[in-house]
Amino acid sequence: MKVLVVGSGGREHALCWAIAASPLCSRLYCAPGNAGIARDAECVPIAADDIAGIVNFCNDEAIDFVVVGPEGPLVAGLVDRLAEAGIMAFGPRADAAVLEGSKGFTKDLCARYGIPTAAYGRFADAASAKAFVREKGAPIVVKADGLAAGKGVIMAETEEQALSAIDEIFGGKFGAAGAEVVIEEWMIGEEASFFALVDGEHALALATAQDHKRAFDGDTGPNTGGMGAYSPAPVMTQAMIDAVMDRIINPTVAAMHREGREFRGVLFAGLMITDKGPQLIEYNVRFGDPECQVLMMRLKSDILPALIAAADGQLANFDLRWRDEPALTVVVAANGYPGDYKKGTVIGGLDEAGKDGVQVFHAGTAMKDGKVVATGGRVLAVTALGKTIAEAREKAYEAVDRIDWPDGFCRRDIGWRAIGR
Ligand code: AMP
Ligand code: GLY
Repeated sequence: MKVLVVGSGGREHALCWAIAASPLCSRLYCAPGNAGIARDAECVPIAADDIAGIVNFCNDEAIDFVVVGPEGPLVAGLVDRLAEAGIMAFGPRADAAVLEGSKGFTKDLCARYGIPTAAYGRFADAASAKAFVREKGAPIVVKADGLAAGKGVIMAETEEQALSAIDEIFGGKFGAAGAEVVIEEWMIGEEASFFALVDGEHALALATAQDHKRAFDGDTGPNTGGMGAYSPAPVMTQAMIDAVMDRIINPTVAAMHREGREFRGVLFAGLMITDKGPQLIEYNVRFGDPECQVLMMRLKSDILPALIAAADGQLANFDLRWRDEPALTVVVAANGYPGDYKKGTVIGGLDEAGKDGVQVFHAGTAMKDGKVVATGGRVLAVTALGKTIAEAREKAYEAVDRIDWPDGFCRRDIGWRAIGR
C-alpha cells in the first residue's frame, strides 16, 4: 500500500523509519519531511498544515493511508477532509482532536465523567480569572485554552505571576488560543507520558515513556518541546498502567463515544503520578516528540497494521510486542533554543553517529549543497537501545559525541531520574 506521513519532526522520522520496515508498505511519502526522512521516504514539498495540498496529493498519487504526525492539522480537520475524499487516515477527526485543541473542553469532560485531574476553573474574561486566583492563592497554574506550541502554560509561584499571566493571555500573547483561560491546582508528583492506540471504542496501551521538558541539565531553564526521553518509565509499574487504563484512558474513550466525538488515533496522556494516584495533566491527540522515537525503537511488531486497525475500528483483538530493552533518546538542539537560534549551520559526523544500532532521527534538518544543515530548534534525536537505561544512555551519548556540530547543544543528564532509582 502507498502511505503518506504528514510532518517534519523527529517523531515523523521515527514513524517513517518504522513504517518503511513494514512489508505492507510498497511506497512511502512524507510531507514535507526533512533530510533524515529522505532516507526512508520520498519527501514532497507540501506543508503539514496545507490541508488542500495534502488532499490533492493523496488523490493524485492514489495514497491508501495517511499517518498524521502533528496536532495542528488534526485540530484543523485534515482527517475529516481526507475522509470526505475517501482516504483512510490515522488520527482523530477535528471534533475529537479538541481533546488537545481545548484544555477547557478536556477539563469539563473530566469533571463530567469523574476522570482524575487537577481542580480547575475556566474563564472567558480577566476579571473573573483574577478573582479565582485571589480566592485560591499561589502556587497555581495558568493556561491558555488553545494550541500554543507548548508555551501556553504558566507555572505561577506567586499570585502576582498568575495575575500577570492572565493579563498576557487575554492581552493576545497566544492569539486565538488565549480567548479562554484555564486555571488549575498545581499538582505535585512525577510526570510520565502514557500512550494508547484507540479505535473509537477500544484502547490498546503502548509502552510508557518519560520526557525532559526543561532546556538545561537538572531540569532547569525554560520549557521546550522535549529534550530527551526514555522508555519504559520505571514509575509506570503494571499496577499503575492498569490504574491509568481503568480510571483515565478507558473512561475518556467511552466518554468521547457517548458525546458523539468518537476518538481514533493515538491518545497521549500527560500524567502526574501523585500520592493520590495518577492524575491527568493534559491530553495530546498525537504521538509525543521525542517519546515516539523511543517507542518506535522498542516496538518489535509491525506498526502499520496497528495504525490501520486503529483507523478502522479493529483494535479489539490486537496486540503489539515490545523489546524488553529500554531505549533512550537525546535531543540535540540549536544553540539558543527554545529562544532565537541560527539556521543553516552544517552538521557533520552523522554517519559516524548512526552506527552500532544507534538511530539518529532528524527533526529540523535539510540538505544544502550535499551537506546536512540545521533548519530548526530541535534538530536531531540520537536514540539507542541498551540492556538497561544506563547502557542505552551511554550508547546515545557516545553517538552524540561523534556528531560534529559546534552550533548545537544537548542536555547531558537525560535519564537521571530513572538511573537514580
Ligand atoms: P501541558 O502543556 O498542559 O502539558 O503543561 C506543560 C507542563 O506544565 C507539564 O508537563 C507539567 O510539567 C506542567 N503542568 C501543567 N499543568 C500542571 C499542573 N496542574 N500541576 C503541575 N504541573 C503542571
Ligand atoms: N514531548 C512532549 C510532546 O510531544 O508534547
